[in-house]
Amino acid sequence: IVTSGPTFEPIDPVRYIANRSSGKQGHAIAAALSDLGCRTTLITGPTNLADPVGCDVIRIETAREMLAATEAALPADIAVFAAAVADWRTSGEAQEKIKKQPGATPPSLEMVENPDILKTVSASGNSRPTLVVGFAAETNDVLTNASEKRARKGCDWIVANDVSPETGTFSGDNNTVHLITDGAVEDWPRMTKTDVAQQLAGRITQYFEAAE
Ligand code: CTP
Repeated sequence: IVTSGPTFEPIDPVRYIANRSSGKQGHAIAAALSDLGCRTTLITGPTNLADPVGCDVIRIETAREMLAATEAALPADIAVFAAAVADWRTSGEAQEKIKKQPGATPPSLEMVENPDILKTVSASGNSRPTLVVGFAAETNDVLTNASEKRARKGCDWIVANDVSPETGTFSGDNNTVHLITDGAVEDWPRMTKTDVAQQLAGRITQYFEAAE
């Protein structure tokens, strides 16, 4: 299972809250795992990308739909959570377009927290995948924040990436990542998202070969 892309959280029938994720990294990971022979389900928020060859692709919009699709795709040996899931949604979606009222103050949005898909799956007991890999999108203190996130979410590995605006990571084709496993941190050189995906898929297969 691979999650990818942003989620869209509706405000009313014509407006939503989203983020800058392109889905490039997650889609590339799904493609790389599929190329290595893994039966791969890609669960993705809205992106402009073509479906990776050989993957089952499930399209969702909201974080809650992504959680439901992920749970429905279990059991799995490997789950990689590359999606940029919206942390919050509005507390109630308006059923009709919210209209401007002349002279009125702008509406306020009340937010509630979305389910944490990575944390939920990491704690899913018997149906927990053997290897759960999270991502940590950070703009500062990348390694410290990512290591803490790995512990907090209960995943096995975390891929830390610097998404500060000057890196151009969100929309670009390149990525600088650190792979944090149990007790080790690997600093990978800056490379294309396709290369990050292939290296990660390679490390995942090594992990399963070593366990055999
Ligand atoms: N994630 C998830 N469900 C959420 C939020 C995040 O599955 N509701 C996953 C992401 O796919 C990623 C990891 O958790 O693998 C970390 O996401 P990130 O956005 O870096 O962290 P957050 O949990 O949102 O924490 P913060 O915003 O405080 O950095």
